[in-house]
Amino acid sequence: MGQIVRSLMVATGLCAVLLLPTALTAADMGKMPAADGQALLDYIIKTDPYGKWDLMPGTTKMRPGKEPHGALQNVYVNKLALKAINDKAGTLPDGAIIVKENYMPDKKLAAVTVMYKKKGYNPGAGDYMWLKYGPDLKIMVQGKAEPCIQCHTQAKANDYVVLAPLKK
Ligand code: HEC
Repeated sequence: MGQIVRSLMVATGLCAVLLLPTALTAADMGKMPAADGQALLDYIIKTDPYGKWDLMPGTTKMRPGKEPHGALQNVYVNKLALKAINDKAGTLPDGAIIVKENYMPDKKLAAVTVMYKKKGYNPGAGDYMWLKYGPDLKIMVQGKAEPCIQCHTQAKANDYVVLAPLKK
């Protein structure tokens, strides 16, 4: 009996050692998508589905939002973004993603808007790739999108993020 328990413990330990680094790498930093709209869309829908992420700290589900975004919004952050916000890191790190679902007042999904930090992608404007797609998953805006950048420049001192303070 003791022998079996001991073997089980060894086996479990081995599994943990073998599996843990893989799990952490895949979830946190491995295989981040290219700065490409379809690659990013696939990533946040299939590879690391944003619906399982945390809400942006300080926000609630179906929070009331402002024009041009949804009247009601759910704002999700991936692990890298969450950590930077909680640590008050000053800026978001390479690989950070914020996904905002925008709903009409009648709670119909109108569009999803995304900010994706990709180091070296657009150094003049915070290195973000911007993405907007519809409920049908059709891409409406992607890349170094001027209108997105222009308005988010109001939050330049906060690394272009409007909703969560990144500094103490
Ligand atoms: C006219 C101003 C304006 C424009 C244009 C704009 N945004 Fe925003 N954005 C905001 C404001 C204000 C917020 C804060 C949420 C709110 O009140 O709606 C926000 C929030 C966000 C957030 C949540 C993270 C954060 O910064 O708080 C994302 C993601 C986002 N916008 C993406 C986009 C994308 C993608 C585009 C372009 C397709 C875009 N935005 C265009 C003003 C703008």
